[in-house]
Order: sequence, then C-alpha cells, then structure tokens
Amino acid sequence: MNREIPRVRLPEPISAADFDYVRSLVREKTAVALDETKVYLVNARLLPIARNAGIRSVVDLIRHLRSHPLGELHTQAVEAIVTTETSFFRDFIPFEALRQEVIPEIMEGRTGSDRSLTIWSAGCSSGQEPYSIAMMLRESFPELSTWRTRLFASDVSKGMLERSKSGTYSQTEVNRGLPARMMVKYFRQQGSTWRINREIRDMVSFIHHNLARDILSLPPVDILAMRNVLIYFDVETKRMVLDRIRRHLKPGGFLMLGTAETTLNLDERFQRVRVGRAVFYRAMTAEAR
Ligand SMILES: C[S@@+](CC[C@H](N)C(=O)[O-])C[C@H]1O[C@@H](n2cnc3c(N)ncnc32)[C@H](O)[C@@H]1O
Repeated sequence: MNREIPRVRLPEPISAADFDYVRSLVREKTAVALDETKVYLVNARLLPIARNAGIRSVVDLIRHLRSHPLGELHTQAVEAIVTTETSFFRDFIPFEALRQEVIPEIMEGRTGSDRSLTIWSAGCSSGQEPYSIAMMLRESFPELSTWRTRLFASDVSKGMLERSKSGTYSQTEVNRGLPARMMVKYFRQQGSTWRINREIRDMVSFIHHNLARDILSLPPVDILAMRNVLIYFDVETKRMVLDRIRRHLKPGGFLMLGTAETTLNLDERFQRVRVGRAVFYRAMTAEAR
C-alpha cells in the first residue's frame, strides 16, 4: 500500500534584514534592545499577531509592516515583542521592606502640610505592581487616609495600560503572589476573571509614558519602583533613563529596581542601601556626593 506522508510546511526563517527592521522598530518605539538571540522570541510573539490580522506567516507580517506606514499593526507587533512579565507582590521581599521600614521612615517626622506621600511605578505592565502597593498602603497604613497620597503608574504599552486600568485578572494571575486574604478582600469574581475593587483602582493614576523619550510632569516622588525594565535596555539607554528618573526623586528618595538590576557603574548619584533583606538605591543630595 502506498500511503502518502503529508508534507509539513516549515515556517520560512526570518531574514537578517527582516530581523533588523523589527529590532529598529522596537528600539525606536520603546528603547528595548533585541540581540540576535531573540529571533525565536520575535517569531513566537508575532505569530498570534499575524494570525489575528489574517496574515499567513510571521515573515509575511514583517513584509507587510515594512511596506506600510506606521499604524496600529506596528504598535501591536511592538507591544507583543516587549516582555511584560509581572505578578502581584513580585519577589515579596522588597514589598516587606517598603511596609516595615521605608514607608514608616518617610512618614516619620512629616507633619501638617508636609504630610504627603508620592509613589511612581514606572514600567507597570498590567498593573499588579502599583495595585500591590495600593493594597499594602490600604492594609498597613490607615493613617494615610488623612495624608495627600498619590500613586502614579506608567508604561509605554497602551495595551498594558488598558489592562491595568480595567484591573481584571485571570485565575492564574491572581494565584501568583496575591495572598488569598487580599484576594477575598479586594477582588470581585466576574465569571472566570477577578476584578480589583474600585476603591483600590481609584488610588492609582495610570499614564502613558516612554521612559527613554517623554518628559513627564509629576510632583517629586518619595518612592520610584522601576523594576525589571532597565534590564531590557542597552548601557547607554540605562544611563540616560537613570539620569532622567533621578530628577523625579526627592533628595534621599528611594528607587526600587529588579533583583537583576543595579545603578552601580551606571550612575554614581545613587547610593545602594540595604533595607531589611532588600536593596534600594537612594538619590543622593549634591552635598552627599
Ligand atoms: C517585565 S515588565 C516589568 C513589570 C513590573 N515592573 C514588574 O517588575 O513586575 C517591563 C515593562 O516595562 C515596559 N517598558 C519597556 N520599555 C519601556 C519604556 N521605554 N518606557 C516605559 N515602559 C517600558 C514594558 O511595556 C513592560 O510592561
């Protein structure tokens, strides 16, 4: 019997020129640097975008992008490539340090019209980081209800900001890092998803912002969480971003970075300090340098 073996069509590989085009597009829009090892990632992340747009393959999608003026599909492609991995109370230890030491230290000694606390989560992805901070403030610092407390969160991805604003998470997302007690207290189940309460949503102001490009007018901040963002930039961009965000911090203000990130050898105007088991970077005053 002569059985015919079905022929599997292997995807056409992305050419160097097509990869270079994608790399420049991502860099131009977000400053995220992709090296050659990321070809597989570009392929995997663009495939659903191609399918959604009714385009046969990733290579055809890139050709389409190359031959059309910048538009919605370009934005979707860039936002799909940029890593947005996050979770509630990610890494846990820095949040404990905030709760037990950093926030009490900031609050100590602020009286009268001085009683304000400003926090910015930059590169907030789908919102778990700023909402973790908001829930922590609500749980542990009831006295802040009489303070001027401002919590800003920003990201370059409009898609992520929409998700953040809606505050709606899958079962898997709420299972990652969120204590069950907080889920019950601050979330409402809506079918197969969980939505964070309005009370917590209203504590956070979300802003579209590119750390490498846009000027942001914010009041000086006490705490800036910019975690797992610098890691995707090249050295020159890391320096430039650190220089910009330092100007947003109050003297002595606290910068939180991801566990694989540092300001060392990039910007000596931050001082690395241990707080409990966590590491923070404090913006030095001119005299302290
Ligand atoms: C890996 S996530 C980190 C999320 C969260 N900070 C955390 O640690 O869980 C990185 C986020 O940085 C954002 N991002 C990348 N480049 C950016 C830029 N130039 N300006 C602002 N946000 C950027 C991405 O869109 C993404 O949501």
